[in-house]
Amino acid sequence: MKKVKIALLGIGTVGGGVWEIFQTNKEEISNNCGCQIEVAKILVKDPAKKRDGSIPQHLFTSNFDDIIKDKEIDMVVEVMGGIEPAKQYILTAIGEGKHIVTANKALLANHGDELLEAAKNKGVKLYYEASVAGGIPIIHAIKESLAGNKIQQIMGILNGTTNYILTKMTKDKVDFSEVLKEAQDKGYAEADPTADVEGYDAAHKLTVLASLAFGASVEFQEVYREGISKITPIDIEYAQELGYAIKLLAIGKEKEGVMELRVHPTFIPESHPLASVNDSFNAVFVKGNAVGDLMFYGRGAGDLPTGSAVVGDIIAIVKDIENVKINGYYAHKKLEKKVKPMGH
Ligand code: NDP
Ligand code: HSE
Repeated sequence: MKKVKIALLGIGTVGGGVWEIFQTNKEEISNNCGCQIEVAKILVKDPAKKRDGSIPQHLFTSNFDDIIKDKEIDMVVEVMGGIEPAKQYILTAIGEGKHIVTANKALLANHGDELLEAAKNKGVKLYYEASVAGGIPIIHAIKESLAGNKIQQIMGILNGTTNYILTKMTKDKVDFSEVLKEAQDKGYAEADPTADVEGYDAAHKLTVLASLAFGASVEFQEVYREGISKITPIDIEYAQELGYAIKLLAIGKEKEGVMELRVHPTFIPESHPLASVNDSFNAVFVKGNAVGDLMFYGRGAGDLPTGSAVVGDIIAIVKDIENVKINGYYAHKKLEKKVKPMGH
């Protein structure tokens, strides 16, 4: 079986999830892409830091040149976050003909057009499923499955940290600052959690989604943004008395050539499906002129859900570059079949 070598830039929450999935689902991954994928190098700030013992120490480097100069590495997976040096590393890797997978919505919202243009000019792939809504395959859905639609609206809960915080504030009647630490400990929050709490992260994701859905260049600064830091348990109690839940919503609409893009806390009737999206879960409503209304739901943050999206992108690129023709009906396992009567 052909071997494809990749490098990870970062092995924190998301990179750790990617590594774990490669260990746990080795067989499924090889079968699904017809190749053996090997993590050949991992860039970190501090190679001496104590980490998951299953990762061979020789993979770590703090020198990006070790990756860029390695001609055997076909793909760079950026899960380090931040704008710089992530942007420069990605552009350099593209320049060397390496394919890119990234989970970095802040970078995409601010420089996505430039990065995608560079990748297109070089003829390499740049995939970014994990950048929006963690494990929910919303980018693929909009880019591929819904490509025959004119998308009219996208609306959703796109930030796991604030949804976790609002859920806890509702259940336990505590202030947001008391539960932020829990969201950080669970690996949901950004390196600077202000990005979550003040709505920047949801606005980054809305920028990425809206550019795709509406086929237009969207400036992140054009998105109206308001976070949850001013919401108190009293606001939530009053909302509940009136039959509402408070959620941080990201809303994008396009009508007659005009786009409306906003992120802010919103009163949602308790009967609405978004009102019962709790904890770190995300949900996205999409309205297409052919398909009608769709709702996507799943874990929007954390190591394995986000890792799942990253690994999916890695496999998609490997299949493409190796020209692997495997479709959904490729049966590679022998499974015992049991037919149970209804109700058992
Ligand atoms: P972490 O802070 O947990 O991990 C970052 C990793 O990158 C660490 O291994 C760190 O090295 C390394 N790193 C950071 N800066 C540098 C640098 N300058 N040079 C070398 N290595 C560096 O981040 P996350 O895993 O949470 O997030 C990574 C990306 O994924 C971000 O863009 C984030 O927005 C995105 N994302 C995160 C999700 C989540 O649930 N956490 C979900 C979806 C997307 P060291 O270990 O030495 O410190
Ligand atoms: N900080 C982000 C969130 C991570 O809480 O949703 C997932 O993108």
